[in-house]
Amino acid sequence: MDAIKLTNVSKSFGQADNRFQVLDNINFTSKRGEVNIITGPSGSGKSTLLTIMGALRDPDEGTVLLENEKVANLSAKARDQFRLNQIGFILQAHTLVPYLTVRDQFVLVDKVRPEGNMSAAELQNLTDRLGVSRVVDHFPNELSGGQSQRVAIIRGIYTKPNIILADEPTASLDEQRVTEVCQLLSDLAKKENKTVVVVTHDERVNQYADHIYELVDGHLSEK
Ligand SMILES: Nc1ncnc2c1ncn2[C@@H]1O[C@H](COP(=O)(O)OP(=O)(O)OP(=O)(O)O)[C@@H](O)[C@H]1O
Ligand SMILES: [Mg+2]
Repeated sequence: MDAIKLTNVSKSFGQADNRFQVLDNINFTSKRGEVNIITGPSGSGKSTLLTIMGALRDPDEGTVLLENEKVANLSAKARDQFRLNQIGFILQAHTLVPYLTVRDQFVLVDKVRPEGNMSAAELQNLTDRLGVSRVVDHFPNELSGGQSQRVAIIRGIYTKPNIILADEPTASLDEQRVTEVCQLLSDLAKKENKTVVVVTHDERVNQYADHIYELVDGHLSEK
């Protein structure tokens, strides 16, 4: 099944003379069980495309189907609920809450969404796997860049979403951690039948991909 299906998606920013078309007639699908990569120059619209895939932003034209649901048909409230239940974001700026410890970042998610999240044992397992169990009582400003990135990754998948969207998830990781994170994302697709879309410049991620796409001048093409 196509977990994500974008049809003829276009998006511009700015007005009149300053109008700038970032995405021009994009078609894209990502199936359950797949890891798909999107590359492209800085400023080419990768993050914009990812936020459209995640129903955080609407295209000017075209349709977005997520798990066969037409996003444009959802009310604002239904859309929030859909995002909360179906989509895991790992954003480019690791958006941890500054006044909460790592542990409490997850407590907060449990408050917003009391059912269906990882168990304490699953969370422990994952923090061990990504090497951040030592820092669960630290605040975000007490984490290294790589640690905060790994915590943000765990938080992105803590709700067990079917659609996982990751923006440069390996940017501040060393070789070993890149392998661990890629293996994790690959396992989510292959073993748990999720769909994973990764925006990255990191060529170390390529070997885990089912398809690699390049976004240039508003056009998306498979490499
Ligand atoms: N809210 C906005 N308003 C106006 N312009 C925007 C907005 N968001 C993004 N842009 C512009 O759209 C273009 C694409 O931005 P985007 O962040 O999607 O690029 P990117 O491919 O993710 O780049 P990077 O690799 O540096 O993260 C840029 O020229 C950016 O300035
Ligand atoms: Mg970006």
